[in-house]
Amino acid sequence: SDNRRENLYVISSRAAKFFRETMWETEEGKTIGLGYFRERGFRDDILKKFELGYSPGSWDALIEKTLAEGFKESVLEDTGLAIRNDKGKLYDRFRARVMFPIHNFTGRIIGFGGRTLKTDKSVPKYVNSPESEIYHKSNVLYGLFFAKKAIRDLDNCYLVEGYADVLSVHQAGIENVVASSGTSLTTEQVRLIGRFTKNITILYDGDAAGIKASLRGLDMILEEGLNVKVVLFPDGHDPDSYVHKIGSSAFKTYIEKNQKDFILFKTSILLKEAGSDPIKKAGVIHDVVESIAKIPDGIKASVFIRECSSLLQMEERILIAELNKLRLGKS
Ligand code: UTP
Ligand code: MN
Ligand code: MN
Ligand code: MN
Ligand code: MN
Repeated sequence: SDNRRENLYVISSRAAKFFRETMWETEEGKTIGLGYFRERGFRDDILKKFELGYSPGSWDALIEKTLAEGFKESVLEDTGLAIRNDKGKLYDRFRARVMFPIHNFTGRIIGFGGRTLKTDKSVPKYVNSPESEIYHKSNVLYGLFFAKKAIRDLDNCYLVEGYADVLSVHQAGIENVVASSGTSLTTEQVRLIGRFTKNITILYDGDAAGIKASLRGLDMILEEGLNVKVVLFPDGHDPDSYVHKIGSSAFKTYIEKNQKDFILFKTSILLKEAGSDPIKKAGVIHDVVESIAKIPDGIKASVFIRECSSLLQMEERILIAELNKLRLGKS
């Protein structure tokens, strides 16, 4: 019911306040949490804007605090802020982690990501809130509330992988940025962006996983009728690490200079994989035309067929025949 949902929003917002106060006002929080964020180069204004915080290294600090204020155990459990162990005892999900509240696009807090400060692999790097009645991962984009105005004004949305990428890119003055945050991009997320702009630029990590995710993402974006470009970062870098390495203004220039339309991106990646094997090369042509076939707008598709033809040095009519075959197969 609405009342039940409202309780989940209220506890989420209360928890975020607790994590903030822990970070800004306690010795543990200042030394460990705030120290960590500052070490990573985040400015205080960004920490405040995104309402970042720190969860203390305790099994029940949040539980004790909120139960004493009259919150029910059930709302702590339903948001996943507390977990019941097999002996029936509740414990805090987030312990000794820097906390990233996740806002829905109207600005209400609906969940959290918490990053460990440990550098070994004894615990997962990020722990996230589970799905709940107010948090459906597949239709949330981290940062959208803070980005939506800029997305509309600039008529473009940058899409990154992680929480830290959103913060760093935003801090660099590029405010039209959101993250899919771990889950691979969903159609719901693309449609959500589509309410603000028809243009997406993918800025995923410059590793094999990031490239794979970009290829998957771009097909989905095309299917939804949006335009997509891709920027690749040097291997081992993500937008966060790269902006800190080269600085804000060089980062902006890098993005401008290195953005490729999806065909150029896809063909260059696939051709590199194919090498000189002619059969594999034929496979590349097929794969690229397959992406073009996903574009609902026929005029746009034919523009890309022309580009593809010159890039792959393949006659346009052959590509068009292939495209028509694929389109017929689909309907
Ligand atoms: P990355 O592994 O690229 O982490 O995962 P990151 O964002 O660069 O993290 P930092 O810079 O080391 O802090 C990208 C995103 O995938 C999700 C998180 O949303 C993360 O931001 N993820 C990653 C998880 O949910 N759990 C994990 O254990 C790791
Ligand atoms: Mn729902
Ligand atoms: Mn990665
Ligand atoms: Mn990353
Ligand atoms: Mn990172």
